[in-house]
Amino acid sequence: MQEKLKDIEIEAQKQIDKAASVEKLESIRIRYLGRKGMLTEVLKNLKNLSVSEKPIVGRQANILKQKISSSIEARIRTTGRHKKQKQKADITLPGIKPTSGSLHPITQTIRDICEIFSSLGFSRIVGPEIETAFRNFEALNIPLDHPSRDSFDTFYLNNDFLLRSHTSPLQIRVMEKHKPPIYIVMPGRVYRPDAVDASHSFMFHQIEGLAVDKTVSFADLKGLLYMFAKKMFGKDTKMRFRPHFFPFTEPSAEVDISCIICSGKGCRVCSGKGWLEILGAGMVHPNVFKAVGYNYKKYSGLAFGMGVERIAMLKYGIDDIRLFFENDCRFLRQF
Ligand code: PHE
Repeated sequence: MQEKLKDIEIEAQKQIDKAASVEKLESIRIRYLGRKGMLTEVLKNLKNLSVSEKPIVGRQANILKQKISSSIEARIRTTGRHKKQKQKADITLPGIKPTSGSLHPITQTIRDICEIFSSLGFSRIVGPEIETAFRNFEALNIPLDHPSRDSFDTFYLNNDFLLRSHTSPLQIRVMEKHKPPIYIVMPGRVYRPDAVDASHSFMFHQIEGLAVDKTVSFADLKGLLYMFAKKMFGKDTKMRFRPHFFPFTEPSAEVDISCIICSGKGCRVCSGKGWLEILGAGMVHPNVFKAVGYNYKKYSGLAFGMGVERIAMLKYGIDDIRLFFENDCRFLRQF
């Protein structure tokens, strides 16, 4: 009897190993463990055995029943996995698109602006955000008693160093190192201790422009900025120069474009004026040339500075500067 059990075990294991489908394994289960299965038969016939054989064969038969049953279970699991792997390799299924990020709207705007000037022959450079008081002020002809030197308008680190309050000190850095001709744009962060609201931030971005050569004129400044405005805001954009004062340019102007929302008729965005201020500009002041050791009789220069957030807000119709810095993906994903 015990030999018969051994034979059943070997035979059953062989069949289980060979079985390649769940259906096959099911029929093996029936053949061995079903109501009329081979092991069931053995158990049924226990009563015919001697008193000493009965418990031994009974226990072995039960162990074998367990063994075959778990063998079949294990095999079902592996043939099942086989099937799943095949499904995974179904090349007719549509692919899963990886989520991709996008450039921050400020980065994008800086690139767009610099791209326009680069097509006109300007190179792009960057410089440090910690600046000397000399380059941020003195060299730019901003005297000690000028209101913007007040500590309320500038983050001072100590008497000599500060967080630059505009990108204009980069003009000084470039002219200290290089001789004309110079045609450059300089994007970067600037800092001012302003109370944060919908249109102010203690940190924002500017792009400075500088061209120095033998015959740079105010007409060049107008033509350059007009071309920029048309490329940036559309070919029907109009531009106007309003006289203004900057210590480092003379003459100086604030530059407006016709409102991109109402085309000059007057609306909420331009507060009914029809014009939007986008930048400050002018001809480099002789005192600035003196500070960097340039001969102001030989060279002339134009300079301009624009706020990137303001331009991005106008271009994309964004009404709160804080949105740029909150890192809210629902906002950023739109660009
Ligand atoms: N630096 C000026 C500002 O921050 C802008 C400017 C740059 C004006 C260059 C004229 C020339 O307001």
